[in-house]
Amino acid sequence: MAGNPQHINPHPIPKHAPLVDPFGRKIQYVRVSVTDRCDFRCVYCMAEDMSFLPKSEVLTLEELERLSLAFINLGARKIRLTGGEPLTRRNIMSLIRRLGDQVAAGALEELTLTTNGSQLTKYAEDLAAAHIRRINVSVDSLRPERFAAITRWGKLPAVMDGIMAAKSAGLAIKLNCVALQGVNDDEYDAMIEFCGQHGFELTLIEVMPMGEIDQARSDQYLPLSTVRQRLEQKWHLTDLPDRTGGPARYVRVAETGQRVGFITPMTHNFCESCNRVRVTCTGVLYMCLGQEDAADLRTPLRASESNDAVTAAIYDAIARKPKGHDFIIDRARPAAAVSRHMSVTGG
Ligand code: 5AD
Ligand code: SF4
Repeated sequence: MAGNPQHINPHPIPKHAPLVDPFGRKIQYVRVSVTDRCDFRCVYCMAEDMSFLPKSEVLTLEELERLSLAFINLGARKIRLTGGEPLTRRNIMSLIRRLGDQVAAGALEELTLTTNGSQLTKYAEDLAAAHIRRINVSVDSLRPERFAAITRWGKLPAVMDGIMAAKSAGLAIKLNCVALQGVNDDEYDAMIEFCGQHGFELTLIEVMPMGEIDQARSDQYLPLSTVRQRLEQKWHLTDLPDRTGGPARYVRVAETGQRVGFITPMTHNFCESCNRVRVTCTGVLYMCLGQEDAADLRTPLRASESNDAVTAAIYDAIARKPKGHDFIIDRARPAAAVSRHMSVTGG
């Protein structure tokens, strides 16, 4: 019966009161990790010999859909699918189409995707047809050899073809670039130029202490305040008031007309406007990227076909959403501040 919408959602779920946390923040943005697996092994994200979750622990596509619908009924306006690499999950388009239908129906404002781009030549048209209007693609270098070194298994030409396929399909594109000291810190001007040529946005991200990797974090950490100072020697940057409820701050680059975002969880506290939560591919709800507190949504999901139990569990969890995170990267505390990998929680 799997795949039959009547089975998944036998009765229209009545609208519930919207999710508001104890600090008055409306929770309207849910990031859903659909797999912990990835076809890359980025050095800051994974160890090369990562072990992945057994399938039984991972939510089925139908469960991911039920969960997403539960959040939509509680006022979620935006869903971002993440991973791991979401497009490596078998049959992922079936989930994307179902959630895209929610966009078409006006129940959801936006469905987006964070991807490493490796599968985009195959999926770009389908994504656009499923009402996805924009995607984030992780590109930490525009030099093939360096890209291969950072991602270990990635091939830049395939990703570039994918990005161009997405552009041709009409998707708006934002490149995500993790700023890595001594690794890609000579490339940000080239990235701004490239994005300017193609009409892409760029987001620079500070490396966050998520999960054990093979290298010390403090060696990779490059504060974006430093990056910005360097960029200002070449480009005219004007601060923009744009806020997304997340850690990004935006500037306009006068020379290219494009926006550049800075995601600075370490040097800035963005928590006061946080409007988001994250769900892992095993159905664990994290109320904050930088805290361990979490709620199991898989048990209530699997306990009954109705969404009542999972809805109650979501309310309960949001009532515990913390005020903020406490990431620290510091040589005195070299261990990961948060033990789970980004590929588990979703970026
Ligand atoms: N720190 C910062 N960014 C990370 N990403 C993955 N792991 C980390 C980390 N430890 C990035 C990916 C992707 C985004 C969602 O998160 O490169 O672009
Ligand atoms: Fe995969 Fe993204 Fe992690 Fe790289 S950063 S290994 S592409 S999940």
